[in-house]
Amino acid sequence: MDEDNYAVSVPFYDLWHEDGHVAVVRELLSPLLAGVRRSVIEIGAGTGLITELIARETPAEIYAVEPSLAMRSVLVSRLSSDPELLRRVTVLPCGARDVEVDEPVEAIVMISALQSFSADERAELWRVLAGQLEPGGRLVFNWRERAAAVPGEPQVMGSYQVGRHVYEISGQVLGIAGESVTSRFGYRITQHGVVISEDEVTVTNHWPSTERLVTELAAAGFARDDAPLGMEVWHLAK
Ligand SMILES: C[S@@+](CC[C@H](N)C(=O)[O-])C[C@H]1O[C@@H](n2cnc3c(N)ncnc32)[C@H](O)[C@@H]1O
Repeated sequence: MDEDNYAVSVPFYDLWHEDGHVAVVRELLSPLLAGVRRSVIEIGAGTGLITELIARETPAEIYAVEPSLAMRSVLVSRLSSDPELLRRVTVLPCGARDVEVDEPVEAIVMISALQSFSADERAELWRVLAGQLEPGGRLVFNWRERAAAVPGEPQVMGSYQVGRHVYEISGQVLGIAGESVTSRFGYRITQHGVVISEDEVTVTNHWPSTERLVTELAAAGFARDDAPLGMEVWHLAK
């Protein structure tokens, strides 16, 4: 991640995602962590919504990898309200391809972060993650084959009342190149209908086919396990 694309979206993040993927992942992820006791790396921990869940569902030590200073600031703030989280969670201020922990971990969890990696970056990602997992260790991430994106007009994706203000998020697909989709996201705050703050960010996300992911992960030494729709569970060959 070269620039902190998340900086302007952070005040909107928990508002938006609490009624988006996080609620679904809370249901699906918990059973997939069964038996994990010692150590977890979480890739792209964001503001810590999933970190809290991992901490609740396992007694494990957690390495929360988060390259964005803005996201990480909320994450540490979240940890600071709970002494148990502060004791168990180490926040690593780096990207996933630079992660290195003292001993290989039992499990790696990556929620809504895979799309940040281009095809070339994914090859390195799988290699690095395989090196950080113990033999037989578990890799869990959310993934769903998506309908093809279509360039179009901006659409409002979420609107939230915060005191006297309304926080509104909009999105617009600008262009598509193979698995890569470039979109513009708008972050607007209004008071009585008057705009008091407005920012936008253009990001390119990567949405490979599941078939391609399966090929990449198998080549990196992972084997696929059963998982509910929307989740992927793989383990590193022993
Ligand atoms: C959509 S957010 C998901 C955050 C959190 N997992 C959740 O579900 O609420 C994606 C996160 O991935 C992080 N990210 C982006 N590039 C990354 C990289 N190269 N390595 C690790 N994390 C990355 C972003 O900074 C962001 O916090």
